Amino acid sequence: MSSKPISILITGANRGLGLEMVKQMIETQRPLSVLFACCRDPDGPRAEEFISLLRAAAKDSGTPGMSLRKAAVINISTLLSSNEVAKGTYSRFPDLPYRVSKAALNMMSVCASVELQKDEILCMLLHPGWVRTDMGGPEGELGADESVEGMLK
Ligand SMILES: NC(=O)c1ccc[n+]([C@@H]2O[C@H](COP(=O)([O-])OP(=O)(O)OC[C@H]3O[C@@H](n4cnc5c(N)ncnc54)[C@H](OP(=O)(O)O)[C@@H]3O)[C@@H](O)[C@H]2O)c1
Repeated sequence: MSSKPISILITGANRGLGLEMVKQMIETQRPLSVLFACCRDPDGPRAEEFISLLRAAAKDSGTPGMSLRKAAVINISTLLSSNEVAKGTYSRFPDLPYRVSKAALNMMSVCASVELQKDEILCMLLHPGWVRTDMGGPEGELGADESVEGMLK
């Protein structure tokens, strides 16, 4: 593990998986110099402003290639947005707008990964599982703590 401090930005940090991510990051991620915990606020900073911070972090890291400890954008997607599983899952979860918006997120992330490659900023997508949050509901297969623990591994 690198001895350099790392900075992390988490959106939707006021509840659900975002909040659990903040809690576990504070407890387990060492060294951690700054954690930006964001929730929606129309007057708050916008994503583009953070790209320049990521570029600076990647440049200052002094290590070649891409890594989570250097500079990374991690988007939380869902298996439900996969074309491959859609046919088998749609009748059980007929949530078209959600699937379409996450499919768009997948495409945006792939395109961002190409754009940010030259700056050696890692872009990735994660599926958190079916989690018992306000969104996932009480039937979910995982607690928020288990889901985040798995994503941080
Ligand atoms: N739970 C699951 O089973 C599951 C499965 C697959 C993927 N995911 C993904 O995991 C992420 C977190 O979900 P969660 O389960 O933690 O849900 P959650 O407990 O319902 O929390 C949702 C979070 O997203 C924020 N949010 C919602 N709509 C927003 C918008 N239009 N603009 C900005 N922020 C918005 C909410 O802010 P406010 O409090 O201001 O509303 C809240 O912080 C989501 O991207 C979800 O699609 C969850």
